[in-house]
Amino acid sequence: MTRLPVEICGIALRNPVIAASGTFGYGVEFEKLVDLNRLGGIVVKGLSREPIEGNPPPRLWETHAGMINSVGLQNIGVRAFVAEKLPLLRRYRTAVFANVFGHSVEDYVEVVRVLNDHPGLAGYELNVSCPNTRRGGIFFSSDPGCLAGLVEAVRTVARRPVIVKLSPNVAAIEPLAQAAESAGADALSLVNTFVSLAIDARTRRPRIGAGFGGLSGPAIKPIALRLVYQAAKAVKIPVIGLGGIASGEDAAEFLIAGARAVEVGTATFWDPAAPLKIAEELGRFLQLCEVEDVREIVGTLKF
Ligand SMILES: Cc1cc2nc3c(=O)[nH]c(=O)nc-3n(C[C@H](O)[C@H](O)[C@H](O)COP(=O)(O)O)c2cc1C
Repeated sequence: MTRLPVEICGIALRNPVIAASGTFGYGVEFEKLVDLNRLGGIVVKGLSREPIEGNPPPRLWETHAGMINSVGLQNIGVRAFVAEKLPLLRRYRTAVFANVFGHSVEDYVEVVRVLNDHPGLAGYELNVSCPNTRRGGIFFSSDPGCLAGLVEAVRTVARRPVIVKLSPNVAAIEPLAQAAESAGADALSLVNTFVSLAIDARTRRPRIGAGFGGLSGPAIKPIALRLVYQAAKAVKIPVIGLGGIASGEDAAEFLIAGARAVEVGTATFWDPAAPLKIAEELGRFLQLCEVEDVREIVGTLKF
């Protein structure tokens, strides 16, 4: 059998397939549907300083080979997470990552400070696709200086590895990947969703309550692959790839593009066990290709 364990900035993963943020709840909601101990890892939904109720409905719209969402980062807040969810997650051996977001550097730093004090997490993933309201609403993810300031501040307080999750909504990914790396990121993950718009031609209104939403699912895979390839070429730190992965072969494509692990999001909407099945499929696919160890294929694209 092909060996599947990998390591990302010192964190051992049973296999390279991680459940992505926002599509796997706080992990524990899935414990009756999936053996959480067999996942490569779990990223919990984004956590903020205070609870957030989220956006008005409709929040989801299915597109050709994809989905638009605007959930509005609904979550119970970091303090309720550490009190109510983290103790349940600690029963599992799987690496758990806390996805963190905010609207100022101080917001991110405060969430990480709270999480630091509680055992049971492998690392932090920063969702930087948020506007910095203290700097005129400029997105952390689109300005290298703004991104570097955030990563540096979080890296200073974080007592666990920091993964910076990049947005695809940029003209060039390399300056942002390099800014995050120079500021101390331990790893990168990409991509987040693509800003998009679905219109109901009959009512002439957006299909999503909040107007714009984020496109995810198989529709975005070719663009995500291109961005992962470019980011992995531009930095030395490990890259985690995601965007539309729905099969073991999809996962292999991201690894070949340069990712050392992958995340699976939207595919869990049609099968909650998708991350696990994709890991199994990846193992079978690599076995057929006579690959002994999954790490052998990382960054092997013949361009
Ligand atoms: C309903 C939904 C909620 C999401 N919530 C978050 C979130 O809280 N934090 C985050 O970093 N990404 C979030 N994402 C983005 C996903 O983690 C992922 O980056 C994106 O959907 C692309 O991967 P996919 O095509 O496999 O879904 C969310 C995506 C969806 C569909």
